[in-house]
Amino acid sequence: MCGAHPSRALDSITLNAGGLVLLFVAVIVCDIHMNTSKKTRGSEALSIDFSDNGGFETEAPLVATSLTHDDEGEGSLRPKALTEYIGQEKAKGNLSIFIQAAKMRGEPLDHVLLHGPPGLGKTTLSGIIANEMGVNIRITSGPAIEKPGDLAALLTNLQENDILFVDEIHRLNRSVEEILYPAMEDYAIDIIIGKGPSANSIRLDLPKFTLIGATTRAGQLSAPLRDRFGVTLRLELYTPEELALIVTRSAGILEVPIEEKGALEIARRSRGTPRIANRMLRRVRDFAQVTAGGVVTRSVADRALQALEIDELGLDNVDRRMMESIIVNYGGGPVGLDTLAATINEESVTLEDVYEPYLMQLGFLTRTPRGRCVTQKAYQHLGLATPGRSEPLEQLSF
Ligand SMILES: Nc1ncnc2c1ncn2[C@@H]1O[C@H](COP(=O)(O)OP(=O)(O)O)[C@@H](O)[C@H]1O
Ligand SMILES: [Mg+2]
Repeated sequence: MCGAHPSRALDSITLNAGGLVLLFVAVIVCDIHMNTSKKTRGSEALSIDFSDNGGFETEAPLVATSLTHDDEGEGSLRPKALTEYIGQEKAKGNLSIFIQAAKMRGEPLDHVLLHGPPGLGKTTLSGIIANEMGVNIRITSGPAIEKPGDLAALLTNLQENDILFVDEIHRLNRSVEEILYPAMEDYAIDIIIGKGPSANSIRLDLPKFTLIGATTRAGQLSAPLRDRFGVTLRLELYTPEELALIVTRSAGILEVPIEEKGALEIARRSRGTPRIANRMLRRVRDFAQVTAGGVVTRSVADRALQALEIDELGLDNVDRRMMESIIVNYGGGPVGLDTLAATINEESVTLEDVYEPYLMQLGFLTRTPRGRCVTQKAYQHLGLATPGRSEPLEQLSF
């Protein structure tokens, strides 16, 4: 064993000089080996070793200082106050009461869980909460926090009443999540120092803070974590009227002249999602500039979106391929999500999070325990003949 060598080295004074050098080299090699193996064992164990940074100094910082860490260019379009945040009246109404009450009591806001499909305004809303509360926000995401020590470092660096925003919180790993439980409940973390029989657990008090978790899949959150959120808000897809207001507001910020009907056309085709509406606005602006003297009218929007292969309901290529594949290859369904994803060469997560919510809202697709099915409405929209069945397709899938 490596550990036996140092004492043997002390006993070996009588060895000749050459033997001594060899022995020292062996001791040094063993020592290096012990250090590396200690590191691997350390990251496997549940204890937090603050001195161990895992040798990843060159990694991107865990905490981005601005709100735009993953969506460059969106920052300028993000509303900063609750009154500027369009739609989501139910979530907004409740939130403004909770914020006022917390401010009146001089306490931090209770922990908030925001869930809903991507692009609906979860990150934006968390920034607004920080603004309205008048506190700092620290932004990180589930996959970025690899080890319990990373999260402990984040938590201990917070100041009183600060907000910690964890995007994609369903992707936190289990050992990291366990640090969050006492942190959320008692504003404290338990740190284990040392290993084996000499290990000691000490409790470290944290400042009172608010955790805001955002997720596209609330169902994947473990029950203990979900239960520790005092406020759970579900964001819904936006109506075309709300999206038209968002498009008009964004056009104002981007200084794009836009007609009311032009805004509504973009809104109707952006699948209930502000991020898509803003992206479409940018593309339509390009068309307007080159072909129509810069003004976004209904007909420019229509032409631009047709050129981008986005149909009058906002469905794109992937939506159509997905529905056509269910019809052509699987007789209308049911078909398992993974099989479908493999057939059309897309990620099943993308289909589930990004495409399905809108197709289901339109009533084109249903989820059943045995898989996905298209409805008669989908056949009609695609201009395909419905198979000769007497019952509606969605009821046949069970
Ligand atoms: N209610 C809203 N009012 C105005 N703009 C919004 C609203 N919700 C979202 N947006 C816009 O949509 C974009 C995407 O929002 P974001 O908060 O990043 O979505 P998520 O975090 O849910 O994926 C932002 O740039 C923002 O400008
Ligand atoms: Mg986000």
